[in-house]
Amino acid sequence: MDAEPYDFKGATFDLAAPADRELVRFILSQALYGEATGVYCGKSLYAAGSLEAARFYLRQARQELNHLELFAEIFRKLEMDPLPAHWVVRLLSAHNNYYPLKVMMEHALGEGMVLDIFREVLLQTLPDSDPRVADIKKKLTVVCREEEEHVAWGEKETMRLLAEKPWLKKPFYGLLELQLTVAPMIAQAFADRAQGHTVLAQVPGFVAHVRARMWKQAQRLGFAPAERPGFAARLWAMAWGVALFVRSQFARSTSKLEHVYLKELGFAP
Ligand SMILES: [Fe+2]
Ligand SMILES: [Fe+2]
Repeated sequence: MDAEPYDFKGATFDLAAPADRELVRFILSQALYGEATGVYCGKSLYAAGSLEAARFYLRQARQELNHLELFAEIFRKLEMDPLPAHWVVRLLSAHNNYYPLKVMMEHALGEGMVLDIFREVLLQTLPDSDPRVADIKKKLTVVCREEEEHVAWGEKETMRLLAEKPWLKKPFYGLLELQLTVAPMIAQAFADRAQGHTVLAQVPGFVAHVRARMWKQAQRLGFAPAERPGFAARLWAMAWGVALFVRSQFARSTSKLEHVYLKELGFAP
């Protein structure tokens, strides 16, 4: 953990009020879509470069499929129908065949943000006074514990790859800057839905908290500088980030285990 959890100061949604239900439905709909895309980490199992990675993606696919079903149960319990996902969520959860970007953007940063929303927003703002919430929070706690594992994997792999390919630092930093620009747009879309709400009044503070946490995370992983550089340097890093992202869109998913399995199993030097 890079920071203390954000404190919503007891602000909660009212699950009987139609306007609040719409807000909760909006958050849960993004979560449901994210979990559906999480399931296609099965594609990463095909491209796994080590037995450790294969083991992780096998486990993750099973967990994400379970999360998808848990969120569906939450929708049913609250008698809500899911909405289509917001474009930012679609963009940030798109699969990337280029492994270094996948582990950094999807697991370390992306699932890190997902965890912030599940652990800090949902677990704090669903009202304990509602009899349905205890069971929902139990489910969410299971999901959070598993998302922590996914973030930890992304961080471990990001650090390994940065040690192997230090040139990735600059584009990774640029992508962090881009993500910090794009991600708050979804909070804005959310905040615009009901002004003056006690939970929504906390949204700007929460966004600032997430940005600060991501910045510390990126410093700990070794690709964000100690001091945020000036605009020109940020722009240059973002251009590198975009170039790497564009290049990643042409990466193909190729199988690797059949080339390394003997070494991985300890049969070859
Ligand atoms: Fe998940
Ligand atoms: Fe996950």
